[in-house]
Amino acid sequence: MPAASAQPRLFTAPAVSRLDNAMVFTPNMSLPVHRWFRYSAGFSAAWVADVIEERERRLGPPNVLDPFVGSGTTLIASQQGGMPSVGLETHSLIARIAGAKLSGWADIVDEFDERGASILASAKPREWPDPPALMMKIYPPETLSALCGLRDAIEADRRGDDVDELLWLALVAILRVCSPVGTAQWQYVLPNKKKASAADPCSAFSTQLAVMASDMRDVGARPDVPTTLLQSDARTVEGVPQGWVDLVVTSPPYPNNYDYADATRIELTFLGDVERWGDLQDAVRSHLMRSCSQHMVRYDAEPILESVELAPIRDELRTVYGRLAEERETHGGKKNYHAMVVAYFHDLARCWHSLRRVCADDSEALFVIGDSAPYGVYLPVDRWLGELALAAGFRSFDFTKLRDRNIKWKNRKHRVPLHEGILRVRG
Ligand SMILES: C[S@@+](CC[C@H](N)C(=O)[O-])C[C@H]1O[C@@H](n2cnc3c(N)ncnc32)[C@H](O)[C@@H]1O
Repeated sequence: MPAASAQPRLFTAPAVSRLDNAMVFTPNMSLPVHRWFRYSAGFSAAWVADVIEERERRLGPPNVLDPFVGSGTTLIASQQGGMPSVGLETHSLIARIAGAKLSGWADIVDEFDERGASILASAKPREWPDPPALMMKIYPPETLSALCGLRDAIEADRRGDDVDELLWLALVAILRVCSPVGTAQWQYVLPNKKKASAADPCSAFSTQLAVMASDMRDVGARPDVPTTLLQSDARTVEGVPQGWVDLVVTSPPYPNNYDYADATRIELTFLGDVERWGDLQDAVRSHLMRSCSQHMVRYDAEPILESVELAPIRDELRTVYGRLAEERETHGGKKNYHAMVVAYFHDLARCWHSLRRVCADDSEALFVIGDSAPYGVYLPVDRWLGELALAAGFRSFDFTKLRDRNIKWKNRKHRVPLHEGILRVRG
């Protein structure tokens, strides 16, 4: 079956303000497959589809790379658009979620339906003796037992195929809606904030199965196009052939202290990957870009500041580093933002050097990125990333601002105006 026949909905999504909404995941919640897991850090699938289409019109079908896959938006858009793609993601849970989303097609939907129904019929509530404290904070005992019953039934039904992963995702995707307390990803966990209502696990699981099955039927046959997801690091881009990439469409973590490990603590704890907050560092955070201060407990930034990759921005970065080190002493939390910014830009510099190796000469890289101002000290993120890209051997860069940030929140921590947009780097 030609790949193009497997794209009934994505390219017909409303074209309204696709560019303005480029950095927003919410519109994906009405698109097949993309909507299987609400990832607050994601961007717009319709915008990715536009970018790929536009590149194809000008220069022919591109090989696409996303070095920061997240929930898989770029890979799914590439796959549904019939373009070969490779993606990298080092967060084990997020990589597994993206992998499951990439595997759901019409050829396995009947088996998915059957096995989902049999899990629902066979799952019995199962008590979790001595559960981690977080589980007790966010779930009443009967909800936790029902979720554990589903988890065990899914495990017992494993057969080593794609359907296993899709059933696993159906459960992981409902963990937050089943909790009666505040569990949105961007607010991590707020045990004292009560929701108006919480979903019953079996009903939520049944609804999720139905949505996924309907989407698999809609997207149709598995496209005959290579899509590779590697649990691999954007700083090294291992596993991607030299010169293979024509188009990079991605969004790295911003240096804004968003903790991707903590943001998935509910799922990781429920799945038994971590037991307490302190486990997040080894299990997840240590594999990620150093974009949050919690990451920086064990790093000395001074030697990193001297590294050759940071040469183009070193003087400015050193000034910011010094200001943040001073500022730190005047704040109770004593956050290691000074070390974080140095490590962050070093990580991104390494990423550009690795991308240079895998990108073709006429390639183009689009990075959705926002600036930031920890402790009110401004970081010109888009300009610095552009300069690091040039130093790695790319030809030019420009930045299109798409929206202002930090201009209306009453409880904002500082008053530095911020923006978000698309950094385009040409190879
Ligand atoms: C802004 S999110 C990308 C979201 C994605 N565009 C989507 O629509 O779902 C950045 C992702 O980079 C991942 N990440 C962090 N450090 C990484 C690294 N060193 N290599 C690869 N991925 C990494 C994070 O786990 C996170 O999922």
